[in-house]
Amino acid sequence: MTATKGLEGVVAASSSISSIVDGVLTYRGIDIDDLAINASFEEVAYLLWFGKLPNQAELDQLQKDLDEYATLPEPLIAQMKLYPKDMNQMAALRSAISALALYDDLAEDMSQEANHKKVVKLQAQLPAIVAALGRIASGKEPVAPKKGVSIAHNFLYMLNGEDPEDTAVKALDQALVLHADHELNASTFAARVTVATLSDIHSGITSAIGALKGPLHGGANEAVMKMLEEIGSMDRLEGYIQEQLDNKVKIMGFGHRVYKNGDPRAKHLQKMSKELGEMNNDLSLYEMCIRIEEIVTGSKGLKPNVDFYSASVYTMLGIPRNLFTPIFAISRVSGWSAHILEQYENNRIIRPRAEYVGPVDQKYISIEQR
Ligand code: ACO
Repeated sequence: MTATKGLEGVVAASSSISSIVDGVLTYRGIDIDDLAINASFEEVAYLLWFGKLPNQAELDQLQKDLDEYATLPEPLIAQMKLYPKDMNQMAALRSAISALALYDDLAEDMSQEANHKKVVKLQAQLPAIVAALGRIASGKEPVAPKKGVSIAHNFLYMLNGEDPEDTAVKALDQALVLHADHELNASTFAARVTVATLSDIHSGITSAIGALKGPLHGGANEAVMKMLEEIGSMDRLEGYIQEQLDNKVKIMGFGHRVYKNGDPRAKHLQKMSKELGEMNNDLSLYEMCIRIEEIVTGSKGLKPNVDFYSASVYTMLGIPRNLFTPIFAISRVSGWSAHILEQYENNRIIRPRAEYVGPVDQKYISIEQR
């Protein structure tokens, strides 16, 4: 038995949700480029969960359900207000989702009907939790969700307490579409491993949030923004990046386990970053990103991944840095839950083996003799 480090190249599940073939990402067989331009996030979530695009009646019903479920249980809001103000927002989100199960009558109901309902509930509740956490951390009261608006609109409304501009809604909606699913990424695998024990959906999503938090995965978007803030201005950029490369420090937002010729999602976020910069009459962040890409791709051949340009996009949408990874979760909960449903449908516990490399033939030594 020999282990493959990081399970690189190991095919660990069969799935009909999303695929990456020759650098092309599809959701249920539809190219992400097509969806990014034409689909709303709600349509994409439905597609991931139920395997087909919704018709108008199905989309209307989904909107009604999202409206109904977005209001958070009062005890959860009270509990979130007790979290430390300077908490890591992904740690807070992980705790809040775990706690949410305590207030859900269906939490332990494993029927297909209950599971489908919980998936839609979590999709409605997660943005409300992230917005509430953001407001609580800045000393403000959470804002109740609005009815009849998209998830992107509602999130910005609940975060800022006022209706967002259409351009902001469109940009966030597209970012949500681009982040919705990504085959067997680390957080999705974590979710599948958890529910393959026949544990519940909230446990699966809590595991996934823990995995997404790390800077090698979803946490990279915050790390990219931290790097841009540290660089500060164009005249410091080249020296900063070169020093990191010389010291073999990873440049956040670059590289990918699967894509070696570029992440197909990155170009959409790059375009969005440019358009938002032009609208705000401030292209400085966008131009810094372009220069970093030139240097990193030029010297290491590494291409930007989904997290690189999303950092500048969220900043230009006025979103604080500590909410970038939680926003990733707002989108990816759709993919996680699609994978959880798929795992339940054809389940077998996920229990691989380890290659043992420790000592052998040891004997117990009594405590007096140690
Ligand atoms: N900056 C500099 N060098 C890099 C980078 C980077 N961002 N990424 C990879 N490399 C180098 C490694 O140092 C390594 O070099 P070596 O062979 O000389 O030791 C080589 O490229 C291979 O890198 P690995 O880390 O082995 O690649 P792996 O497939 O295990 O990791 C990962 C992929 C985690 C995405 C990696 O590229 C990375 O850490 N990137 C930065 C973090 C990041 O942006 N994560 C977000 C990924 S997208 C997502 O999860 C949503």
